[in-house]
Amino acid sequence: MAKYLEVDNSAQAVIARINDAECTPRFRELMVGLIEHLHAYIKEVKLTQAEWEVAIDFLTRTGQTCSEERQEFILLSDTLGVSMLVDAINNRRPANATQTTVLGPFHVAGAPEREMGANISLDGVGESCLFKGRVLDTDGNPVAGARLDVWSDNADGFYDVQQPGIQPKWNNRGIFTTGADGAYHFVGIKPVSYPVPVDGPAGEMLTAMGRHPYRPAHTHLIVTAPGYQKLVTHIFVGDDPYIDSDAVFGVKESLMAPFRKVEGGETLWECPFDIVLAPEA
Ligand code: BEZ
Ligand code: FE
Repeated sequence: MAKYLEVDNSAQAVIARINDAECTPRFRELMVGLIEHLHAYIKEVKLTQAEWEVAIDFLTRTGQTCSEERQEFILLSDTLGVSMLVDAINNRRPANATQTTVLGPFHVAGAPEREMGANISLDGVGESCLFKGRVLDTDGNPVAGARLDVWSDNADGFYDVQQPGIQPKWNNRGIFTTGADGAYHFVGIKPVSYPVPVDGPAGEMLTAMGRHPYRPAHTHLIVTAPGYQKLVTHIFVGDDPYIDSDAVFGVKESLMAPFRKVEGGETLWECPFDIVLAPEA
């Protein structure tokens, strides 16, 4: 091998500097793969000096956009399909268990625990919807003591944390715990589609690719119960115009629920959705 880095030996030149005595086998594996693919990519596309500078500036600004409230690197990962790929590799579940999807940046820990049946739409704005179903195991038995942490956007497509002072704190959020029959129900709103934040580098990237930033309407859930794998998922509005072009690739066929119009009921819509938890490995 040549003594110094050249085009033909570039990845090997870097890999040869890894000191195996100083790093774990797994870290070595991750770094070798990264270096090999990165160098192969740069050679394949024949990256120019000017393009390299644009990339460095882009990544610098991505870091600068991050704060306590905002994670632009996760948004990049989401919009490049990486978050869903990591989720798919790491969350293979039994065929009849409810599938997982992205967490997203708008979950807030510590939402209020609510009485079963409570209304989480604190501002009362939006089309009311009764969400109802059962939490079951993969044999169809009810799961008692399952905690459902739910959150959704408001009728204007914003989460409460995006509009402090405009929406009440904890608007469209709550935690519900199932009883012996595994059943749950709560009132919220039929969610609406909304754009992911586009005022940063991830938004620039979407625009440069000619991609729209919208997510199809969905309600988020994290379901946990002792002895079962944590479930991070969404209930999607199946007939949403963006259902086949989610900006973060989070849609799965099995997560589309029917939203039925209710005649003369207490809510405008109802959404039946059973949740099946996979046993802990
Ligand atoms: C969300 O569904 O809240 C979300 C997911 C990924 C990126 C932005 C928002
Ligand atoms: Fe969301």
